[in-house]
Amino acid sequence: MHVVRVEGIYKDYLLGDQVVQALSNITLQIEQGVFLAISGPSGSGKTTLLNIIGCIDQPTKGRVFINDQDVTGWSNDKMADLRSHTIGFIFQTFNLLPVLSAAENVEYPLLYRKDVSREERQRRVKYFLEMVGLGGKGDHRPNQLSGGQRQRVAIARALAVQPAIVLADEPTANLDRATGSEILELMRNINKHLGTTFIFSTHDQRVIDLSNRLVRIEDGVMRELGIRRGNAWTTVPAASSRKESKPRVSEDLRASLGATGSQGQTG
Ligand SMILES: Nc1ncnc2c1ncn2[C@@H]1O[C@H](COP(=O)(O)OP(=O)(O)OP(=O)(O)O)[C@@H](O)[C@H]1O
Ligand SMILES: [Mg+2]
Repeated sequence: MHVVRVEGIYKDYLLGDQVVQALSNITLQIEQGVFLAISGPSGSGKTTLLNIIGCIDQPTKGRVFINDQDVTGWSNDKMADLRSHTIGFIFQTFNLLPVLSAAENVEYPLLYRKDVSREERQRRVKYFLEMVGLGGKGDHRPNQLSGGQRQRVAIARALAVQPAIVLADEPTANLDRATGSEILELMRNINKHLGTTFIFSTHDQRVIDLSNRLVRIEDGVMRELGIRRGNAWTTVPAASSRKESKPRVSEDLRASLGATGSQGQTG
């Protein structure tokens, strides 16, 4: 099963009378438990792709599957319900609610969950704040926390719904090096121990170094796919950017990431 599958995704933004094509023909499937980095230059479409995978935004064209369920065109309410059960999102700027304490921020998405009792909410808030090393800071408001601590609250909030998928938009961009490395280690441990799938957008080589899957995009087009076995990366051009050759390893890798492209250029 694939936790995420996108097929032939396009995203156009209308800016005045200009159309900005942010994504073009992205096809990708993501296995459960991977640590996937989406990298590419500024403006290449990373956040746009993450928002579509995270059911925060809809593609202009193409289909999105979460846990093999086609969610394309779902209403905002249905999407919100899906997110509250399945997807944790860590925004680049954390997006904590400033008037709520750290604990209340972590609890917040759980308030949408009818299947989670008050006692269970309290238990998870305590558990996940402790997991990210903020056991003693639950009553602090975001402005009483450092940047790294705020990022940890955002991680605890994303994890508290016990999602199958955590999406993180440049999780280290607003942190100093040491804090960034700590946060990454924390996420990698969660990935290893809970089997949670992590999908990052990133400019940060350290994120790529910790990942085991890589998708490189440029100008909204998928350029390169990578898979890591042990310490060795194998990378191949993505099907949509490939000119002709069909080495066997590429097919293996492309099959793993599912990026066969709608032209069916596999061999
Ligand atoms: N709401 C919007 N309206 C119009 N254009 C947009 C909108 N959001 C993004 N874009 C454009 O779409 C393209 C992709 O943007 P996106 O934010 O996905 O890039 P990114 O790879 O995340 O960049 P960065 O690394 O700087 O965060 C850019 O050209 C951007 O200007
Ligand atoms: Mg971005």
